Amino acid sequence: MKQPHIGLIGLGTMGANLARNIAHKGYSIAVYNRTTSVTESFLKNHGNSSITGPRTLEEFVESLKPPRIILLMVKAGKAVDIVIDQLRPLIEKGDSIIDCGNSYFKDTKRRYNELENYEIHFAGCGVSGGEEGALNGPSLMLGSNDNSWQQLKDVLQAIAAKDFNGKPCVTHVGPESAGHYVKMVHNGIEYGIMQLMAEGYDMLRTLYTLSSKDIAHIYKQYNDTELSSYLFDISEAVLLRKDDQSDTYIVDMILDEAAQKGTGAWTAHESLATGEATPTIAEAVFARYLTGNKEKRKMLAKHYASLKKQPKTISDDVVNTLRDALYSSILLTYIQGFSLIHNASQEYAWNIDLPEIARIWQGGCIIRADMLSLLHSALREEKQLLATPSVQKALLPRIRGLRHIITQGVGAGIPLPAFSSTLAYIDTLTSSQLPANYIQGLRDRFGAHTYKRIDKKGVFHTDWLTS
Ligand code: 6PG
Repeated sequence: MKQPHIGLIGLGTMGANLARNIAHKGYSIAVYNRTTSVTESFLKNHGNSSITGPRTLEEFVESLKPPRIILLMVKAGKAVDIVIDQLRPLIEKGDSIIDCGNSYFKDTKRRYNELENYEIHFAGCGVSGGEEGALNGPSLMLGSNDNSWQQLKDVLQAIAAKDFNGKPCVTHVGPESAGHYVKMVHNGIEYGIMQLMAEGYDMLRTLYTLSSKDIAHIYKQYNDTELSSYLFDISEAVLLRKDDQSDTYIVDMILDEAAQKGTGAWTAHESLATGEATPTIAEAVFARYLTGNKEKRKMLAKHYASLKKQPKTISDDVVNTLRDALYSSILLTYIQGFSLIHNASQEYAWNIDLPEIARIWQGGCIIRADMLSLLHSALREEKQLLATPSVQKALLPRIRGLRHIITQGVGAGIPLPAFSSTLAYIDTLTSSQLPANYIQGLRDRFGAHTYKRIDKKGVFHTDWLTS
């Protein structure tokens, strides 16, 4: 066996699958896990002539041929710093450490700068696709210097998923933390899309009283249309799986409190901090928070039962209208995500190639969807996606459906925060006159905050207390 350049630390499910993917593509790899029994069991189950599993970190580093490429697949946060601190005295100038976890992009920037002082290349690589993606082909978003990209390019291209044209779903997003930034926004979009799909599910279940089986059938139909995507694809299995402990669908036995690990909240926070609005993503994060505390909701539901309206009967028209609502709002969620990335690219001088991001999300990742083809070509024309004729053509006939679904659902007391905020987003951005003049007037009245005028340049203040 050739002495490997590549090593991987952290044999959790994602790490183990990524190591197997690399080995399957013909690369020699050394793997290391803090708990030796995990390495032993990995080697027993998946070992082959391309994989070695040194028992100590020293042996692991020693076994790699410089310049070393060390992939970290450890839990984001403190664990990444701990592993870097342990590795640093063992590795040499010119080696690369690539953090493949969902690390916060500001941590990645700090680590990148710290390791630069030791002439060690640090990179943050967004890896999307869950366990299956890691094994069979993820979408990979690399933030690194050119040196690391050149070192990593071949292996990343070999293990990545393929886009709609068969090209690998990997790109050098930009320097330092650009890759983790884009992965963060990917996850924010993932939150938005899942919340929209959940609101559609709630309409069908609560307002139109459909069973999981019926909803699975409708979502399967949607997946055969322009809404085709990974998340619609897996919905059928999630909605149709029977519970083995009761006589019902498992989805009906799952507690309705949504968990989260933080990437959606970081995206929303970034949106608030930079002033680049992503209301659908932010609402999706709030919506998850609000699902917490089922007991409290059950108690309040009794007191406020009169807010809910009688169920209605489903029709083909509703199914088609909901499809339009989902399509337009999901497209607008991607648009919000791309505007956040565009803004960050300018702010941090990352020079991110936006069409390339729409391309590498076409395969492997959780938000892969047919509409990324439309977004890819639209972004090649114009970064302001709403200004492109193709996006307008896709949105204009469907916004009516979004408005109709919201009217029906909100009228019946179904919470539709993501649908509603998405509609407000497009209604706001397409209004030539908004009520902000009135807000400015109030601000100037109570705090002399000044305002601009529509007819002259400059900053003005009115002495409101004299008539
Ligand atoms: C991916 C996923 C992955 C993970 C999310 C889940 O791209 O493969 O986004 O990163 O499933 O982080 O996030 P929450 O636990 O916050 O929903």
